Amino acid sequence: MPEVVVTEPGGTARALTAPAGATILDLARREDLALEGTCGGQMACATCHVVIAAEWYGRLPTPSAEERDMLELAARPRRTSRLGCQVRLTPDLDGLAFTVIGE
Ligand code: FES
Repeated sequence: MPEVVVTEPGGTARALTAPAGATILDLARREDLALEGTCGGQMACATCHVVIAAEWYGRLPTPSAEERDMLELAARPRRTSRLGCQVRLTPDLDGLAFTVIGE
């Protein structure tokens, strides 16, 4: 099970262990992070927006065209933004760091 480092909107960093195969949104719900995920992972809201640490961004699968379109609607998108519902926490992402932007 991968361990990830999450920085929350207030700046607090937490190390969390993700269940095998969970998405960032799944982990956020389990750990009560400030990640809304209003549409439940249907790529229709962008409220699951996270910013991946630059050194990790290139190690994630490339976002789909639909995800890139939705990210344009996210609050304060950055170069390494992703939708949390589209990033699956596989064992090779052990150590992944990302920031929850919040609303
Ligand atoms: S939960 Fe709505 S786009 Fe990810």
